[in-house]
Amino acid sequence: MAHHHPHDADAPDWNALGAELVFEGELAEPIVAGTARWVADLVPEIATILDIGSGPGVAAGLLAAAFPGARVVAVDGAPALLDLARQRAARLGLSERLTTRVATLPDDLPSLPVADLIWASGVVHHLPDPQQGLQQLGRQLRPGGVVAIREGGLPLRFLPEGAEPGLLARIEVACDELLAEGHHPGGVVSPGAAWPDTLRAAGLSYRGSRSFLFERSAPLSGPERDWLRRRLERLRDVAQDRLAPGDLEAIARLVDPHAPDGIAHRDDVFILGAGTIHVAAVG
Ligand SMILES: C[S@@+](CC[C@H](N)C(=O)[O-])C[C@H]1O[C@@H](n2cnc3c(N)ncnc32)[C@H](O)[C@@H]1O
Repeated sequence: MAHHHPHDADAPDWNALGAELVFEGELAEPIVAGTARWVADLVPEIATILDIGSGPGVAAGLLAAAFPGARVVAVDGAPALLDLARQRAARLGLSERLTTRVATLPDDLPSLPVADLIWASGVVHHLPDPQQGLQQLGRQLRPGGVVAIREGGLPLRFLPEGAEPGLLARIEVACDELLAEGHHPGGVVSPGAAWPDTLRAAGLSYRGSRSFLFERSAPLSGPERDWLRRRLERLRDVAQDRLAPGDLEAIARLVDPHAPDGIAHRDDVFILGAGTIHVAAVG
């Protein structure tokens, strides 16, 4: 059944984004590892894990490895991504414990098993009503279980200091303004409040937020450069109406596959970011 929400027109075609989401999932490995250590201290026994909006299941695989006694269900609305998740699980020898489930959020949540850990990375901000989505995630928790959402962090950095001063900050302001004005850049919905408050408003008990760095150092590999170029193109597509001609020219140079000072060729570009995880429990 099709669901029509105001941001549908801007929502990405998730099924087509497999390779990109695998790259981003692998980039986020330190975030998942750090969260797994944190959550292991908070929850005495983790038997069932839901990876909500798992995409191609990179985090699901890492969580299955971190909690060898747990079964993990990778849940997503995009069947092509779950195919990738199953192939990945088979390659890692995890098929017994890592399964997939096609589901539309938040409507299909009640049909999922209850869990001791619910991981939702980069997903809640795509739900039509983030607070209500969190409330429903809370209902899928076993007593003592936690939900860990990845939302925000630090804006991605990829140029050495001194190169294109202020460009990334101006792109960020443009995206923030669009969100504040009720647009849905890249299908993102503003929760209208800080995530800890939104978790509390959803009836959950907020346990804390931690951030974890991820990095690919210079010089980047070909696939890393390709990902970064696409990422910058996407930011430009979202923000271009609000950027000055000089900034648009700088971005055009950076994404040009033939420009010697573009991301494709220069040896000083890198990938550096941080992801923040907010954790909450039931009750
Ligand atoms: C930004 S990706 C995040 C993927 C992965 N969790 C990660 O952190 O790399 C968002 C994922 O949520 C899924 N998704 C978004 N909205 C959804 C919805 N309403 N129902 C089911 N899945 C949804 C998409 O198919 C996509 O795989």
